[in-house]
Amino acid sequence: FNVPIAVNEPVKSYAPGSPEREEVLKAYKEMFNSTVDVPMYINGKDVKTGNTRTMSPPHDHQHIVGTYHLAEKEHVEEAISTALEAREKWAAMPWEQRAGIFLKAAELIAGPYRAKINAATMIAQSKNIYQAEIDAACELIDFLRYNVQFMSDIYMDQPESTSDAWNRVEYRPLEGFTYAVTPFNFTAIAGNLPSCMALMGNVVVWKPSNNQIFSAKVIMDVFKEAGVPDGVINVVFGNPGMITDTILANPHFSGLHYTGSTPVFQSLWKQIGNNIENYKTYPRIVGETGGKDFIVAHKSAVAKQVATAITRGAFEFQGQKCSAASRAYVPSNLWEDVKKFVIEDLKTFKMGSPEDMGNFITAVINEGSFDKLAKYIDTAKTDKDAEIIAGGNYDKSKGYFIEPTVIVTTNPKYTTMVEELFGPVMTIYVYDENDFSETLKLVDGTSEYALTGAILSSCRYAVEEATKALQNSAGNFYINDKPTGAVVGQQPFGGARASGTNDKAGSSQNLLRWVSPRLIKETF
Ligand code: ALA
Repeated sequence: FNVPIAVNEPVKSYAPGSPEREEVLKAYKEMFNSTVDVPMYINGKDVKTGNTRTMSPPHDHQHIVGTYHLAEKEHVEEAISTALEAREKWAAMPWEQRAGIFLKAAELIAGPYRAKINAATMIAQSKNIYQAEIDAACELIDFLRYNVQFMSDIYMDQPESTSDAWNRVEYRPLEGFTYAVTPFNFTAIAGNLPSCMALMGNVVVWKPSNNQIFSAKVIMDVFKEAGVPDGVINVVFGNPGMITDTILANPHFSGLHYTGSTPVFQSLWKQIGNNIENYKTYPRIVGETGGKDFIVAHKSAVAKQVATAITRGAFEFQGQKCSAASRAYVPSNLWEDVKKFVIEDLKTFKMGSPEDMGNFITAVINEGSFDKLAKYIDTAKTDKDAEIIAGGNYDKSKGYFIEPTVIVTTNPKYTTMVEELFGPVMTIYVYDENDFSETLKLVDGTSEYALTGAILSSCRYAVEEATKALQNSAGNFYINDKPTGAVVGQQPFGGARASGTNDKAGSSQNLLRWVSPRLIKETF
């Protein structure tokens, strides 16, 4: 096997006066000041139903940047039958041809589509340019490149043979069609979920989040231009319940690749269970869901580093990362310094439209999310066991803006220490510096989730103790760092418990879920 050695796409700086800054601002202005009518994409054709919804940037919710078309049941059925028709040829396609398509998609994003996909992500999801660049450009490029390498690793994994019996494994695509359900918060995840299944020879029906369609359109354009054949990846928009019901009722449904909320994933799993006797093959179920990600500082930690881990870990992209830190445990000896540094750091975080590149904080995704977060903040303002030490203001008159908010609580089981908020709210519990071991138990026992977490410590014994005590508390565990920012090929990403099936995105383990190996023994 000779595949290009995958390398991580270098992150561009977007420094003032840099060509990339000019280009992305130009693309942003063009896209913001025009409107686009986004069709669904079924069997290589644009499908418009006339039943449309408008799209608006979260930071300017009265401004319309386009419309998208909603599926009726018949469109979902057409997407399924089209995928099934395309399967035979696609599954029989030599792997090099499939790899070539997705490697080309990576290069299209690295080059001609980079400004466009970043600008679309800034508009649709209100990401600042630095967050858009590490997501929509670099992470998606990395997924596409590394998946080809992981695929070749899988194909090379072959059993022993003897002189009179040759054993070999054929990594067949799943029989039937697969379903990708993707979230708003990472354009890279939206691109990766359908494409990694297709790379392994599967045909796909893809439902992006209704909040991300504006940037999903750019991904579709890239896949088309890269040469994904008609019917291999079909995109439908609209009512998630109707789309999912139609897909899961089909006997040829063979795999779900999901990233989103825990309750929705659980309901899909139940639905699949209820239909199990109707399927031709047991469907594969892969999900990456919620988190209540933690930072624990030991008394030996450096206060400034703890503060930086808190502010960056909690507030990049307004805390709307499944990996975002949302509860921190700070020892009493460090608290005054950590508090001072957190407050100082937050004063430098400007908030506003992503078009102004000085803004670190932009808007949260939609009104539902804004209202929910505002309610938690209001409750904390009056609760006796909570105190807001930074932020606490919000305003949805133009966009859904919420100040990065830090709550300090005397109750380690306070609501915002336990529940997933998915926004720019961090809760800190200050523990007695001598209660480290007890605190680790608290960290493990407080949340049903187990996605990411971090220990900050200058003492190796404390690092060792935390690594052991928190063995099942996080699928991605960081020592002396924030718990966000996993890089494909370096930190495979995923968690267990209520956070998902832990089939690490960006690993051969994930791709193995999308093949059904056939062992062939040939006797001489
Ligand atoms: N891969 C993303 C991160 O680690 C979710 O922040």
